[in-house]
Amino acid sequence: MRLVLLGPPGAGKGTQARALATLWGIPQVSSGDLLRTVVREDSELGREAASYMDRGQLVPDELVLKLIDERLRKKDARKGFILDGFPRNVMQAEALAKGLDKAGLKLDKAVAVIVPDEEIVKRISGRRTCAKCNAMYHVAFEPPKKPGVCDKCGGELYQREDDAEETVRERLKVFAEATRPLLDYYGRLGLLEQVDGVGRTDDVEKRILSAVNGVAPPPK
Ligand code: AP5
Repeated sequence: MRLVLLGPPGAGKGTQARALATLWGIPQVSSGDLLRTVVREDSELGREAASYMDRGQLVPDELVLKLIDERLRKKDARKGFILDGFPRNVMQAEALAKGLDKAGLKLDKAVAVIVPDEEIVKRISGRRTCAKCNAMYHVAFEPPKKPGVCDKCGGELYQREDDAEETVRERLKVFAEATRPLLDYYGRLGLLEQVDGVGRTDDVEKRILSAVNGVAPPPK
């Protein structure tokens, strides 16, 4: 299974990618997580990436493509992968297609998770992320057992820098301008499925599973 999860910020791509990755035994490959790891290293590159992310803008394609390429070359991605937050524009989608083609592979599906803007604002303002293992919570919809502490690893939960309201608005604008055209791109290739992302997370997961129905998950 080689799947792209598309959707606006806060649509639940990360939440769903994690659940499906566990179910199928393939990695979740999140460009946002890869970039946040680079930012934490406090290098020149990390500072450059942070300067875009903090403004809600896309990080230059060159850096993102390099991180994704390195990640997809790892052994655990041979059986398949779930791309979360990548590609983000047509140039990245074309680069992905070219890379897969070179390796004699192809994408199985691109699933767009559709969520209205007002729901996104509610989700993002309540999101909390574990600093240690990247597990995700929501203060109202999916609270941790102990406030501020990760259920899975005991790490500290934090609110992302780019989740400030003004930055979220910019991220939604960037999504509309740069990323939404990917729906047409994958539609033309016959790979696009659209699912309603509103409702319980396990219901959204079922909708994604039925959208990719027919694509066999990798053997465990
Ligand atoms: P990235 O980390 O990819 O962020 P994003 O796409 O904006 O998406 P989010 O992580 O905000 O949301 P999500 O859809 O994963 O939702 P989640 O599951 O967390 O990118 C961050 C930045 O990095 C970008 O702005 C850009 O600068 C840069 N970047 C990343 N990729 C790039 C690329 N390819 N090219 C260039 N730059 C790039 O859910 C959100 C909240 O809602 C959580 O609290 C969750 O618990 C809750 N929730 C989830 N599902 C439900 C549900 N069904 N009901 C209620 N609550 C729910």
